[in-house]
Amino acid sequence: METRVVKIDPNRIEKDELKEAAKILRNGGLVAFPTETVYGLGGDGLLPEASKKIYEAKGRPSDNPLIIHIAETEDLRRLSKDGNVPPEAKLLAEKYWPGPLTMIVEKADDVPYETTGGLDTVAVRMPSHPVARALIKESGVLIAAPSANMSGRPSPTEASHVIEDLSGRIDCIIDGGSVEIGLESTIIDLSEDIPTVLRPGYITIEDLEETLGKGRVRMDPGLMTEEGRPKAPGMRYRHYAPKGELSIVEGGREQVIKKINDLAAEAKNAGKRTGVIACIDTAKEYEADIVLTIGNREDEESIARNLYRILREMDEDGAEVIYSEGFDEIHLGNAIMNRLLKAAGHHKILA
Ligand code: TXA
Ligand code: MG
Repeated sequence: METRVVKIDPNRIEKDELKEAAKILRNGGLVAFPTETVYGLGGDGLLPEASKKIYEAKGRPSDNPLIIHIAETEDLRRLSKDGNVPPEAKLLAEKYWPGPLTMIVEKADDVPYETTGGLDTVAVRMPSHPVARALIKESGVLIAAPSANMSGRPSPTEASHVIEDLSGRIDCIIDGGSVEIGLESTIIDLSEDIPTVLRPGYITIEDLEETLGKGRVRMDPGLMTEEGRPKAPGMRYRHYAPKGELSIVEGGREQVIKKINDLAAEAKNAGKRTGVIACIDTAKEYEADIVLTIGNREDEESIARNLYRILREMDEDGAEVIYSEGFDEIHLGNAIMNRLLKAAGHHKILA
């Protein structure tokens, strides 16, 4: 299959540019597009055949459900069982939509099990990215979209990553430049008694508590330990992983630098190509074949934005053993460490 790549400037969207992609979606085809979190691989969420194609293109297990992207709050009702939207969902939609929050509710009867991975609930998100919004509106399609990477690889934060993974496997890729956030949306499950965060993201549990009340939101217990069984099927798989063997080294600044340098020297002696993921202020302290700067420790958003690109670059540079500095697991650091630890298969080293 030949994959068309269409470049669109998010600040100057011409309706005509979206016509072709919108038509592909209406005809049951697949279009990758930018959102504010990561690039998504879109298909018609109400069409079983389209969802099947998504799983096939990504090489994704079909029990791992998709998020449906909408452009109008009304469509949350459309997708909810008997049109009943939980009161918490209304509050959160008002506060955070459009934006990087996915809500799980009981599904309407006509949302196909192919889209929900066999579950009776559906994940819904209203993205804020202008290209994503324009595409949903222009196509009139409620777009099911997982991250537009091959299953298991780091999520794509620029069109080149999508091209790398999916070129030849889907109909069209919209190149709208680099994304803003760089980590997938926060997922909150509102289908049970206590709203539960199934995947941490840019919108933190502290933010959600502000809207729903202190103690009225919990973190999925399955996420808290390495042995736990996360409720979101996608959080159970090894994921985001680079090809090299990644470890996270935690501790005080000087101890971490020394430990990583010792470990890298050892690996180098063993004939391995070594990589280090460092921050702006520590990068110059490391000796390894590849040292990549992920961002400024004081600015968590910079780290979130660069994380997946850095993991991909480690692959390109052929790193076989990779050490990354760790981050405090508070606020956005929670989501950053969640992804890093998954990428590392939970391999943590104390300096
Ligand atoms: O930011 C994002 O959410 C991006 C962009 C494209 O919107 N999408 C994304 O989709 O990250 P994906 O498929 O890579 O991750 C969706 C996650 C998976 O872990 C999946 O298991 C979970 O959401 N999920 C979806 N529907 C669910 C449901 N009904 N119950 C529990 N987990 C669900
Ligand atoms: Mg994904």
